[in-house]
Amino acid sequence: MLVFLLLLLDFCIQTSGQQQTAPPGRCDVPQRLAVHTDCSSCAVSITANCPHGFTKLDTTNCSYVVQIGGREVELEGCQHLCVENFMHPQCCPGHWGPLCLSCPSWSGKTCNFNGVCVDGDVGNGTCICDEGFSGFACQECKNPNAFGKKCDKVCDCVHGVCNKGPDGDGQCLCQPPYTGRRCDQVSRGCRGCSSFSYCKGEEKEAGCDCLPGYRRMKENRCLVSCAQRDCDVNAHCSTQASNIKCICKPDYEGDGKICIPKNPCLENNGGCPINSTVCVFKGPNKSSCECMFGMSPVGGSPEYGCQLVSACSADTCDPTAVCQTKLDGKARCLCDPGKIGDGRRCYGNLMERLIELDSRGDHRGNLTGAIALFERGCSMVLSHSGPFTAFFPLLKQPLTGVNEEVVCKNHLILGQHLYKALEGRDLNLYGGEKLRVKVNKGLKCLE
Ligand SMILES: *[C@@H]1O[C@H](CO)[C@@H](O)[C@H](O)[C@H]1NC(C)=O
Ligand SMILES: *[C@@H]1O[C@H](CO)[C@@H](O)[C@H](O)[C@H]1NC(C)=O
Ligand SMILES: *[C@@H]1O[C@H](CO)[C@@H](O)[C@H](O)[C@H]1NC(C)=O
Ligand SMILES: *[C@@H]1O[C@H](CO)[C@@H](O)[C@H](O)[C@H]1NC(C)=O
Ligand SMILES: *[C@@H]1O[C@H](CO)[C@@H](O)[C@H](O)[C@H]1NC(C)=O
Repeated sequence: MLVFLLLLLDFCIQTSGQQQTAPPGRCDVPQRLAVHTDCSSCAVSITANCPHGFTKLDTTNCSYVVQIGGREVELEGCQHLCVENFMHPQCCPGHWGPLCLSCPSWSGKTCNFNGVCVDGDVGNGTCICDEGFSGFACQECKNPNAFGKKCDKVCDCVHGVCNKGPDGDGQCLCQPPYTGRRCDQVSRGCRGCSSFSYCKGEEKEAGCDCLPGYRRMKENRCLVSCAQRDCDVNAHCSTQASNIKCICKPDYEGDGKICIPKNPCLENNGGCPINSTVCVFKGPNKSSCECMFGMSPVGGSPEYGCQLVSACSADTCDPTAVCQTKLDGKARCLCDPGKIGDGRRCYGNLMERLIELDSRGDHRGNLTGAIALFERGCSMVLSHSGPFTAFFPLLKQPLTGVNEEVVCKNHLILGQHLYKALEGRDLNLYGGEKLRVKVNKGLKCLE
C-alpha cells in the first residue's frame, strides 16, 4: 500500500510540473477516466491493484468464464472500478495547434469578427471568412471595390482609389489632378503633385496630400511608411521602394502576415532519441528532450537517451512470480505457469498449498492425513479441472475403509471463493453432496 501511495504522489508531482509549463493559450479541462479491472474470483481480486495512477473507487460483482473439464462455466467474481482524475490539455477558444497559438486577428478582433477560426488542438489556425470577406484575418472585402461593415456597398470613384474594405467609408482619394466626390473633375490646385499623393479638397482649396500609409518627406515627396498592423506582431515591417514588406522575426516562420514560432519538435523529434524521450516545446525555436514516463537519463542527459527505471521491488509481486518493467514504466507480475492469480499473489495448485500448510505454520503436521486423502482421491481432478476451493480436513492419519475419491470430491467446490462469501449458503460439492456453511461454526477454511 505504501508503494501505491508513493506512486500516486509521484503522479501528482508530474502533472503539476506539466501545468507550470502550460503555454498561455491553454485552457486545460479536468477529466476523469474510469476503468474496470479484469473480472476474477473475489479471493484473487481482493489483492488486485488499480493501474498506476488510478484510485480504487468501488468493487462490484461480475461474472467470468473458466474452462472446467472441457466445458465453459460461468462463475461469479469481483472487479474494481478505478478512476484517474487528470487535466486534459486543450486550447482556449481562439487558439490552435499543439502550441495553442492565437488565431489571426485584426485590430484585436479574432478573424476581424467576420469569420471563424479553425481553432482547437487539431485546428490549423486559418480564418474561414464569412460570405463577402477575405484576407488572412477577414480584414478585406472579397470584392476589391466594396466597402462598409458588411462589404455590401460599392465604391464609385472614377479616377481615384477608394477607402475600401470593412473599415472603409467609401470616400474617394482622387488621383491628381482629379477631384470631386467621385474624382471626375479636374482641379488646377492638384497639378504637379508627387507620386503616392492624392488630391484633397474641392475646387480652389484643393491641394496635394500623401496617400494613407505614406508620409510626406523632403521636397514634398511621399514615401511609404510602415504600419505595424499590416504585419504580424512577431514580424518586422520594412519598406522597399513603394511596397511594405513584412518579415517574420528570427525563430518565427511564415509570410510576415502570420508568423508562427518555430517548433523544433516537429522535425526529427527535435533530435531527441525517439524510442525513449519526448521533445518538449519550450519557446520559439527552443525545445528540450525529456525522458518518457518511468525512464531516467542514461548519460546524465535525456538527449543521449533514457532507460526504464525498474518498477520492481522485493514486494511488488508474489515471491514466485516474475516481475517485469513494461514500456509504460509499470510493473507487470507474471505467475509461474501452472499457478493462477494476478501476479501480486499467485495461487499454486491445491496439493502444493496443502503440503506447504502441513510443513509449517499453525497446522504443521495436522494435515498429513488430508494429503494422503487428496493424493489418492483427487489428484486427477485437481490437475485437470478447476479452479476449486477446497475444505482440508484436519487429519493427522490417513482415513481407512472409505472411498477416497468420493470423500475427496465432497471436499471441493467449483470456483475460487472467500470463506466470508460462503457463509450461510448452500453449496453443491463437486462429489454431488450438498453443504451448508454455518456462520462461525465447524468448518475452518484454509485459503
Ligand atoms: C451482481 O449481484 C446482484 C445481486 O446479488 C445480481 O442481481 C447480479 O446479477 C450480479 N451481477 C453479475 C454480473 O453477476
Ligand atoms: C485549415 O483547415 C480547414 C478546415 O479543416 C481547411 O478548409 C483549410 O483548407 C485548412 N487550411 C490550411 C492552410 O491548411
Ligand atoms: C534555431 O536554433 C538553432 C539551434 O539553437 C540555430 O542553429 C538556428 O539557427 C535557429 N534558427 C533560427 C531561424 O533562428
Ligand atoms: C532505442 O533504440 C536504440 C537504437 O535502436 C537501442 O539501442 C535502445 O536500446 C533503444 N532503447 C529502448 C529503451 O528501447
Ligand atoms: C494439531 O492439532 C492438535 C489437536 O487439534 C492441536 O493440539 C495442535 O496444536 C495442532 N498442531 C499445530 C502445529 O497447530
